[in-house]
Amino acid sequence: MKPLYYTLITGASQGFGKALAIDCAKRNMNLFLIDLTGTGLKDLAVFLEESFKIKVHFFHMDLSSKAYCEKLLEFVHHQKIEFKFLINNAGVLSTGFFNEVDINYYLKQIEVNISAPTRLIKLFYDQLKRNSPSGILNVSSLASYFCLPTKQVYGATKAYLSSLSRSLNLEFKEDQIWVSIVCPGGMNTNPKMCYKNRNMGWFAKLSVMDPEEVAKITMDAFLNKKEVIIPGTINKFYLTLAKLIPQSISERITTIQMNRFRAADLSIG
Ligand SMILES: NC(=O)c1ccc[n+]([C@@H]2O[C@H](COP(=O)([O-])OP(=O)(O)OC[C@H]3O[C@@H](n4cnc5c(N)ncnc54)[C@H](OP(=O)(O)O)[C@@H]3O)[C@@H](O)[C@H]2O)c1
Repeated sequence: MKPLYYTLITGASQGFGKALAIDCAKRNMNLFLIDLTGTGLKDLAVFLEESFKIKVHFFHMDLSSKAYCEKLLEFVHHQKIEFKFLINNAGVLSTGFFNEVDINYYLKQIEVNISAPTRLIKLFYDQLKRNSPSGILNVSSLASYFCLPTKQVYGATKAYLSSLSRSLNLEFKEDQIWVSIVCPGGMNTNPKMCYKNRNMGWFAKLSVMDPEEVAKITMDAFLNKKEVIIPGTINKFYLTLAKLIPQSISERITTIQMNRFRAADLSIG
């Protein structure tokens, strides 16, 4: 009998992860959803199972904990769950001046944004190889392309993820596992992000998209094995422009935008 294949999505309870989960469900993909706190994930799983006649498992864990990752592996083996797609979406965002943000916040951000996706790829590589052709989608950010004051650590974690993905895409080719990254610009994923995005300058505001729209563009491109996915015409235009104009000018624009962004909310996150 042909095994049932699942798509693992981290950070699926809200925001972009939830939009990705709904988009995958519409494509009849069985899902394994992960979040931290458990708020609403069970309801989402029931809704998706009933609406789209797919199988959905869910698991609450702290992705920054190695012990939890081992528990996840145990659970997956015990339930005989087979993954064909791995989507590393969960991420900790931040805005704040480096010397004002607690070091423990940054260390947690590095654990969730860097260590967790690296660990999950390592943990499920054998499965993905066995179930190939298969794919890994890592959720990076447009921020990975720029030097962003007040988003220094966040941007650096996303640059790591982009670099890792492109290298692995070459390395895993023989195993028929492709690795994609998606680099969204601003998305209205939760009330805090909506508020922050509303308070950005008009130039940056133009690029803000709804997570549902980004999810559809992303999944279409990912399932077509596109390596680097930049959703939205404006975001593609910004990237091209950034390559053309002198660095000193692009850094000046970036600094003005970041200061406006930060002025909208002085707290991190
Ligand atoms: N929002 C944007 O403008 C934007 C732009 C570019 C890229 N991105 C990227 O898109 C991804 C999703 O962003 P988002 O705005 O949708 O985030 P979000 O609304 O804050 O949702 C984050 C998700 O990750 C889960 N999560 C957080 N920390 C976790 C941990 N330690 N262990 C397990 N799960 C954890 C949360 O679970 P709980 O609900 O249980 O807390 C939630 O499901 C991130 O990688 C982000 O960097 C976002």
